[in-house]
Amino acid sequence: MKNLIISLTLLFVNISCAEKKIRMDVYMSPTCGCCKKWVSYLENNGFEINTFTDQNMRAVKTKYNISQENTSCHTGIVDGYYIEGHVPASDIKKLLKDRSDIAGLTVPGMPAGQNVPGMETVDTNANYDVFSVNKAGVSKVWNSYN
Ligand code: CU
Ligand code: CU
Repeated sequence: MKNLIISLTLLFVNISCAEKKIRMDVYMSPTCGCCKKWVSYLENNGFEINTFTDQNMRAVKTKYNISQENTSCHTGIVDGYYIEGHVPASDIKKLLKDRSDIAGLTVPGMPAGQNVPGMETVDTNANYDVFSVNKAGVSKVWNSYN
């Protein structure tokens, strides 16, 4: 009986410690390979992703007010924020923790490098920035990688 209680206690501790999955919707083209790789990367980093591959991507960017210069391939939506392009999981988690008063994060274009999740097509690291974009559409550097 004592053992059973200990086991149940351990089980309970395990369950309550398990990281809660972060739910995100991702809009992407069905033929986009790097989008799929970014989605799997997020799934391996605590996210639960719902993908939508039947959308007009230009309409998605317009709907969320993502300017041309901030555009990349896919658009993720999490807790009312947009996540445009190959943004690392740690930056998204920081945004959700800080609850920053912005519209979203973006990695414009598609930098290729070992340190760009989903874009590990070359052996070297890329120098790239993650930008935050405020609700007026003004972007500034949020985090830099090199
Ligand atoms: Cu991409
Ligand atoms: Cu993509």
